[in-house]
Amino acid sequence: MQSRGRGTYRDAAGEQELRLAISRYLAFNRAVASNWEDVIVTQGAQHALDLIARVTLRPGDVAAIEDPGYPPARACLTAVGAKVVAVPVDAEGLIVSKLPKHARLVYVTPSHQFPLGMPMSLARRVELLEWAQQRDAVIIEDDYDCEYRFEGRPMEPLKSLDRTGLVAYVGTFSKTIFPELRVGYMVPPASLFDTLCKARQIGDWHGCSLTQTALSSFMLNGDFAKHLKRMHKLYAARRASLLAHLQGDLARWFEPIVPTAGIHMAALLKAPLTEAAVIEAARDESIALHGLAPFYVRATPQPGLVFGYGGIEAEQIDTALATLAKLLPRVESRT
Ligand SMILES: Cc1ncc(COP(=O)(O)O)c(C=O)c1O
Repeated sequence: MQSRGRGTYRDAAGEQELRLAISRYLAFNRAVASNWEDVIVTQGAQHALDLIARVTLRPGDVAAIEDPGYPPARACLTAVGAKVVAVPVDAEGLIVSKLPKHARLVYVTPSHQFPLGMPMSLARRVELLEWAQQRDAVIIEDDYDCEYRFEGRPMEPLKSLDRTGLVAYVGTFSKTIFPELRVGYMVPPASLFDTLCKARQIGDWHGCSLTQTALSSFMLNGDFAKHLKRMHKLYAARRASLLAHLQGDLARWFEPIVPTAGIHMAALLKAPLTEAAVIEAARDESIALHGLAPFYVRATPQPGLVFGYGGIEAEQIDTALATLAKLLPRVESRT
C-alpha cells in the first residue's frame, strides 16, 4: 500500500494544491492577482472574518460595517471588543463620507451588498480605497456570492484596485458548493499574512487536509467550473421566475432591487403593506418569508423582503408567489 505521506501537522494556511486552485480561480474569474502563497484557506468566510478581526483590532478600536448589513460580520467585530459603527448605504453602496473618522477596519460587500443586493459603484470603490489609504485602515471585502452573474460586466473587486495593500479579500464555497463543507479563503494584505497564520495555528492549527485535497482535485480537474455552469442555468431560471412575479402579479406591492449577481434578491414593499403583516399572512399559508428589518442597526429600515433562491426550485417559487399574489389584497384591505 502506498503511503500518502501524511500523519503529521500541516501548513496553517492550508493545502498547497487548494491554495493554487483558489489563486487560479480568482485570477480567471475575479481579476484578483495572487500567488498560491498569498492564499489562506479557512473554515468558511466567517472564520476569515474572525481571524482578521482578531489580528487587526484591539478592544475599543472603531470598526465600520454597512447598514443594513451582515449580522455575523458585526458579531465577529463586536466579539473582539471593537466599537462597531453602522454606516448607511445608498444605491451606490456604503456612503464613504459617513464613515467614522478613526475606523481601523471597514467591512463591505461590494459585489452584491448584503442584504439589499446592489453593487458598490466604481466611484465609491475608489473613494473607499482612498479613504482607507489616508488612515491606513484595513478593508474587508466579503465577496461571498459573486460567482453567479446574470447581467452586465463584472465590476473590479476592491482587491484588484488596491495598490497599497489594504484589502483583505474574503471568499467562500458555501454558496457555490454548500455551507456544511466549511471551506472559505482569504487573500489578505501581505503585511498581515504571517500574523493571520499564527492566529490560525493558535486556534486550531489547520483545517481538514482531506477535504482540502478533495476540493483541490474538484477544482483543478475542471469539475468545479462545470458545476458552476450547471448551477448558473438553474439559478437563472429561479431568478427569472422570481422577477416575473415581482414585476408582474406582485408589482403593485413590490419594488425589486434587481442585482446583477448573487443568489438572493431584495424587494421593497410599497405602502400601506408592512413587513410584519406580509410575513405573518404568508406564514399562515406555509410560505416562509424573510424581512429586511433584522439587518438594520441605526438607519431607518426600508420595509421589504429578501428572497433567497439558492435552495428552492423555480416551480416552488412560482407556486409560492402566485399564492402570495392572491393573499396580498386581503392583507392590504386589513391595513
Ligand atoms: C454576506 C455573507 N458573507 C459570507 C457568507 C458565507 O459565510 P460562510 O462562508 O462562513 O458560510 C454569507 C452566507 O450567507 C453571507 O451572506
